[in-house]
Amino acid sequence: MSEMTIDTAGAEPVAGRDAMSSAALTRLCSLSDVSEDLPYRAEVGDMAWAVFQAGDMYYVIADQCTHGPGLMSDGYLDGCDLECPFHQGRFDIRTGVPTSPPCEVPMAVWKPIVRDDAIYIDASSPLRV
Ligand code: FES
Repeated sequence: MSEMTIDTAGAEPVAGRDAMSSAALTRLCSLSDVSEDLPYRAEVGDMAWAVFQAGDMYYVIADQCTHGPGLMSDGYLDGCDLECPFHQGRFDIRTGVPTSPPCEVPMAVWKPIVRDDAIYIDASSPLRV
């Protein structure tokens, strides 16, 4: 089984959550489900995540804007800035930190884990900045 983790600059796992067993991982999608032109909305249970690709990097962010009803999977990625489609507020997709108003509350982001041509996360461990 091949595994590759993707670093998310400026973010660290929540303390005490570094140990990551396979059982703790949530499969979000296949690598072929997401492209630079087309983000992917992953729904598992009552949660939804937006998966983005930029070059050989993948990013996972909650698919609900902290400012309102905007779905981030419908957003526009410009470098590391993810623009919400509803009021055009922006977040740094690496950290979830707001970068442009009206957004003020950080988004939850997760460290993507690429394993066997699929993207997984430890859903219980969003990254903190
Ligand atoms: S709902 Fe996202 S910026 Fe307002």
